[in-house]
Amino acid sequence: MPPALSAEQIRDANTRYHDVAASHYDHKWGIDFGEVGRAQVLAKVRKALGGEPQRFDRALEIGAGTGYFSLNLLSAGLIGEATCSDISPGMLRTLEANAAQLGLEVNAQPADAERLPFADGSFDLVLGHAVLHHIPDLPRAFAEFERVLAPGGTIMFAGEPSRYGDRLAHVPKRLATALAPAWRLALRVPGARDEAGSDPDEALERVVDVHAFAPGELQSAAKAAGLRDVRVTGEELVANWFGWTNRTLEATADAAGVPWAWRQYAYRGYLVLQELDRRLLEGRLPAAIFYNLMISARTPGGESASRS
Ligand SMILES: C[S@@+](CC[C@H](N)C(=O)[O-])C[C@H]1O[C@@H](n2cnc3c(N)ncnc32)[C@H](O)[C@@H]1O
Repeated sequence: MPPALSAEQIRDANTRYHDVAASHYDHKWGIDFGEVGRAQVLAKVRKALGGEPQRFDRALEIGAGTGYFSLNLLSAGLIGEATCSDISPGMLRTLEANAAQLGLEVNAQPADAERLPFADGSFDLVLGHAVLHHIPDLPRAFAEFERVLAPGGTIMFAGEPSRYGDRLAHVPKRLATALAPAWRLALRVPGARDEAGSDPDEALERVVDVHAFAPGELQSAAKAAGLRDVRVTGEELVANWFGWTNRTLEATADAAGVPWAWRQYAYRGYLVLQELDRRLLEGRLPAAIFYNLMISARTPGGESASRS
């Protein structure tokens, strides 16, 4: 059990952990800003909103990281202006470098999700990916999302770990840990040089994840903030088991020694299984058993004037 930390300590750990992670984050998570990344992000937006999305003129991303969602949505033309906020200045520096490389304009703003430095009603869309589970006071953050949205505005968050899915993910992780020596031998991959846990980065990893959600908890947080049409769905099951198995195996090896062919197999295999989850399992099984939860909702009010 991680020691109980104050909200301030959790925010500080998140800032430091993500500042350190920023330079290798895209490589570690296989983040893509080309055709593949755009297709992945658009598929998630469609699933979260339950249909083909409209264009949003003014978008605010919470915990934007290196820009996975906002930059892909900008290049897909789904959002007009992108304000990208994050508690980690290091992440925002990488995001700005990624945007410059892609020739995209963004407004990058350091911000804690619980205290957004934006005026009421400034945005048509507030979005995020894999960020809610890092936020200590979720009701306060949802109240902020509602405040900065224009009437009839949309919130959409994806990639949030579900409590049950998180427990299920321990199975492939344990299995992979047991198989790792045989895997390294078979692929002739040298073991990792660092002792597990000796990296300060890894020590922080245990304290930055503060929630794994039951679908009803996300729903209640949105409703308590006055949001309407709340929709919580689940995605990725088999793809995540595959992903966690491979990531756990790779973490035991010297990264430079992992063969290119293995990396391709892990990456392509993940994409194939994502598609299998989408076609066969999502929509048929209850949201709670999937690894990732997504939520969308709207602020009360008529059609937002700035939506086109
Ligand atoms: C798991 S990363 C996801 C990054 C990006 N959204 C993506 O999908 O690649 C979580 C991000 O949330 C940010 N974060 C953590 N706590 C936060 C908070 N309280 N307010 C705003 N951002 C926060 C981190 O700095 C980090 O960039």
